[in-house]
Amino acid sequence: MAGGDQRKLITVADPAALATAAAERLLARIEMNAGRAAICLTGGSSPKQLYRLLATDPYRGRIPWDRVHWFVGDERFVPPSHPINNMGMARQIFLDRFAPAANIHPIPTDTVDSQESARRYESELQSFYGARELDPERPLFDVVLMGVGPDGHTASLFPDDPALEQTRRWVVGVPKAHVEPFVPRVTLTLPALGSCREMLFEIAGSEKHAILTRLLADENLPANRARSTGETVLLVDRAALGGEFP
Ligand code: 6PG
Repeated sequence: MAGGDQRKLITVADPAALATAAAERLLARIEMNAGRAAICLTGGSSPKQLYRLLATDPYRGRIPWDRVHWFVGDERFVPPSHPINNMGMARQIFLDRFAPAANIHPIPTDTVDSQESARRYESELQSFYGARELDPERPLFDVVLMGVGPDGHTASLFPDDPALEQTRRWVVGVPKAHVEPFVPRVTLTLPALGSCREMLFEIAGSEKHAILTRLLADENLPANRARSTGETVLLVDRAALGGEFP
């Protein structure tokens, strides 16, 4: 990849191969951690095939559900049962069937506003982590899943939004989304998302070709500023690459 970039680019044939590759990476990271593992999920449509795969026999049987905790990197500020709620989607596809309820950590949306939700989730993350400062030697998450939007946003970190510049807060409220759905968001910040052993972007389909081209050209986009303190991986399919399959 382009100049001095530490990300790893992995190309696969199609969305099915991408989901399999993501599931295998997720499982490998869980296996590497003999204790309590923490996975930060993402929303939108990109991770749905992965979540469906994790619910199938071959995968669910390999997940040590008792010691894996599930978080989410951003949320749309709508009730948990609303069809566009990110954690609601993950719960419906796989978590509610297999994960102990105490291991599922949704961003609360029953608060007065997205700022209050962010404060509550930040304190939940800090109590899970056992400290209020992130130690680069002790990442918060084993894996952080990410997607990328057409404008280069990732999680709910939009271009030119002040949330991008947060260095102290772990979670912030974003009163206005820059793209659909236009509901307030709650998002983990770059330092919190980056505190992980692996940050794994899933980028598939021809509709992602334009933004993937801009990412690979190292444009100043939120998704290009999101980096793991460990490994950052772009998992892309042939259509997103514009048909190339190196
Ligand atoms: C959200 C997200 C967001 C998403 C991208 C890609 O809540 O919308 O977490 O960052 O990952 O917008 O979305 P798609 O996968 O739907 O293209």
